[in-house]
Amino acid sequence: MPLVSMRQLLDEAAKGGYGVGAFNVNNMEQIQAIMEAARATKSPVIVQASRGARQYSQDNFLYHLMLAAAELYPEIPVAMHQDHGNSFETCKSAIELGFTSVMMDGSLKADGKTPTDFEENVEVTRKVVEYAHERGVTVEGEIGVLGGIEDGHGAGGTGLEHVTDPDQAVEFAERTGVDALAIAIGTSHGAYKFSKKPDGSVLKMDILIEIHKRLPRTHLVMHGSSSVPKDLQDIVNKYGGHLKETWGVPVEEIQLGIKHGVRKINVDTDNRLAITGAIRKVLFENPEKFDPRDYNKPAREAMQKVVTERMTQFGQAGNAGDYSPKTIEEMREGYADGTLETRPSLAGAH
Ligand code: G3H
Ligand code: 13P
Ligand code: ZN
Repeated sequence: MPLVSMRQLLDEAAKGGYGVGAFNVNNMEQIQAIMEAARATKSPVIVQASRGARQYSQDNFLYHLMLAAAELYPEIPVAMHQDHGNSFETCKSAIELGFTSVMMDGSLKADGKTPTDFEENVEVTRKVVEYAHERGVTVEGEIGVLGGIEDGHGAGGTGLEHVTDPDQAVEFAERTGVDALAIAIGTSHGAYKFSKKPDGSVLKMDILIEIHKRLPRTHLVMHGSSSVPKDLQDIVNKYGGHLKETWGVPVEEIQLGIKHGVRKINVDTDNRLAITGAIRKVLFENPEKFDPRDYNKPAREAMQKVVTERMTQFGQAGNAGDYSPKTIEEMREGYADGTLETRPSLAGAH
């Protein structure tokens, strides 16, 4: 199966009432772990690469690994997504390379750190939407700012400093025409999200619910959705790591979000923890080993286990065969004739 449009994956998820995990990758083993989990659970899936990942893998390595994934797992609908694009140029280069979806994170300036004002965000996102939709490519925007910093990207702070304003979300969707919208409801990137066990009222679910009611056609995205499981933290620490005590987003909160329009759920940190724990364990217990396969294989298996669990929890499991993929050309036509329109004032006219 060729790489599929993310919009189609999310439209199907909305019909089925489930969410689709978007997992970050930098190398072959991570892509293999995701595709094996998708095959085992019969899941459609989003594979995403940050700017850092594209730099690390020199773009073409990553892209050809994704083509291999599409070829070797023909029964799995898989979208390839640019995570946190920081500028029009980043998104354009991803589209030129063959990504089927891009995120224009206009909540931050091109430095990836400084929050933008609303008009700046609308302007750059609208430009990306115009360019991408003319080419059948999906666009995710962001309104409100996530907390935390990952690899230099992020505004820092807790996730509650720039929570999304529902009125702004509606105006943003109307003026940009994004397919999917990341909103800030209190999550942050990385392992250190909450310093005590979240009690169910940590995330601004009322905001999410209101935005979904007012924007029923715009798929909502939850970033910073790792659960940072204690057992994965413990493995890292048992074998020489030094992670401070921390809590992530409870899976039940994500599942509540899925009931209210969340269709894409971003997970990176949990997989990083699983990989690191597995590698540490092998090297700690077998200090004589030096063949990378001896630790990369258990690391890949550990990531596959996490991804499999999330695919089941998000509800995407079992849905890979529900639909046949549309071509990117068909998506282009859908944007051109208005059938894929999401703007509140125009959607439904077709
Ligand atoms: O949102 C950030 C993702 O976890 C990717 O992180 O920029 O370190 O690759 P990265
Ligand atoms: P985590 O750090 O919670 O895994 O979030 C990843 C993410 O949002 C990538 O865009
Ligand atoms: Zn993110």
